[in-house]
Amino acid sequence: MSKLDLAIRGGTVVTASDTFRADVGVQAGRIVAVAAEVEGATREIDASGLLVLPGGIDSHVHIAQPSGPDVVMADDFASATAAAAAGGNTCIMPFALQQRGTSLRRCVEDYVRQAEGECHIDVSVHLIISDPTPEVLGQELPALLKAGYTSFKVFMTYDDLVLNDRQLLEVFEVARRERALVMVHAEGYDAIKYMTDRLERAGQTSPFFHATSRPELVEREAAHRAISHAELIDVPIMIVHVSGREAMEQIRWAQQRGLKVYAETCPQYLTLTADDLQGLNMEGTKYVCSPPPRDAASQAAIWEGLQQGVFQTFSSDHCPFRYESSEGKLTPKSKTSFRWVPNGIPGIETRLPILFSEGVSAGRISLNRFVELTSTNHAKIYGLYPRKGSIGVGFDADITLWDPHRRETIRQENLHHGADYTPWEGFEVTGWPVMTIARGEVVARDGVIVGKKGAGRILERDISAYAATGEMP
Ligand code: URP
Ligand code: ZN
Ligand code: ZN
Ligand code: ZN
Repeated sequence: MSKLDLAIRGGTVVTASDTFRADVGVQAGRIVAVAAEVEGATREIDASGLLVLPGGIDSHVHIAQPSGPDVVMADDFASATAAAAAGGNTCIMPFALQQRGTSLRRCVEDYVRQAEGECHIDVSVHLIISDPTPEVLGQELPALLKAGYTSFKVFMTYDDLVLNDRQLLEVFEVARRERALVMVHAEGYDAIKYMTDRLERAGQTSPFFHATSRPELVEREAAHRAISHAELIDVPIMIVHVSGREAMEQIRWAQQRGLKVYAETCPQYLTLTADDLQGLNMEGTKYVCSPPPRDAASQAAIWEGLQQGVFQTFSSDHCPFRYESSEGKLTPKSKTSFRWVPNGIPGIETRLPILFSEGVSAGRISLNRFVELTSTNHAKIYGLYPRKGSIGVGFDADITLWDPHRRETIRQENLHHGADYTPWEGFEVTGWPVMTIARGEVVARDGVIVGKKGAGRILERDISAYAATGEMP
């Protein structure tokens, strides 16, 4: 046998189930050995004192997504994948968005073309269905699912994306037939519109009232409705970006009844609150996302859900807009009302340090649970397992070396994303990614991108057994 390409020595390997001292041997981009000692390699990396983690997989990010007239997203594929890599990730999953009145297939082709040759790490694309015509449901969607786009998101709110109940049911039926996984944005459209109109009439238009316009009960109602529709069709669903107790308890109730409901949450719901939207002038827009961050009691409820297994995945919902930009948070219209503030916050580079610090370092979750929530379950649920999501023979050599003791303060000036701010400016963390290795090549070291643009591939995915059965990973 030829010499190994790479040996990572002396670290502590962590998987979703085990923590053990081992060397890792890599050949041609894949892990070929995990053993007390592996043979000599062309390149040796000393990982003593470090954790050897499966690279982060972020299954919910928005990159270069059309965002309506006058608004431009702050990241393209190059900047988003660089930021992801610097933050310890080796794979991300953005969305190809179908704009109403257009072909879903054409939208996907255009989107993938934008990504080609631009990515530092692997990318796999979900779909967003905004216009479920008979042509889309009957031909385009089934063909795309067979071509490896095995998951898609639907929205229960937003003027240009919302599906009504009948449309949700029809989309769920296709997902059941084709064994695709549906991700659901659960917030009730009519209640939000009603609240927004009422607040505007009362002159309550500052960014803070974004949170008032979509209270937790609006999310709870939509989560319950989505769960009921999924039960009627008998199809597994994933409820994404859950913000607090109300929706979490609907999901827990459904899971306890044996319904096939997965759930995701994000760093903003553990660390931010609606008070952050109170910033002077328009600073509050920096925190406008949907669902909005809630309060300390909601944060405690989300921890409870993470500890009890209600949540399977922890994603960033990275959706970056520049603050000091008339094409970002501060459009001429968004200054007139929160209604027009682009929804979304950047977080692709800070997701792992925040969960590690607040979760593992603070003693709330185990290292193994951290790995499961940030990598393994994303690979399993979305059809990338056993190519990605763990450290073992045959997996892609997607590995993050992690210093569990390193203390850092999150600063915009050190980040790689295209946004001009971070919601976590000044946030202190314990635990930090010191090296990111993607398919055997070092892509980021100590916050510096050392890999080549174009090294990342666009991956097709398999039908996931979890999406087909709804079993818990
Ligand atoms: O406010 C958010 N989360 N924007 C991103 C789009 C979405 O709904 O996930
Ligand atoms: Zn959403
Ligand atoms: Zn999102
Ligand atoms: Zn250390």
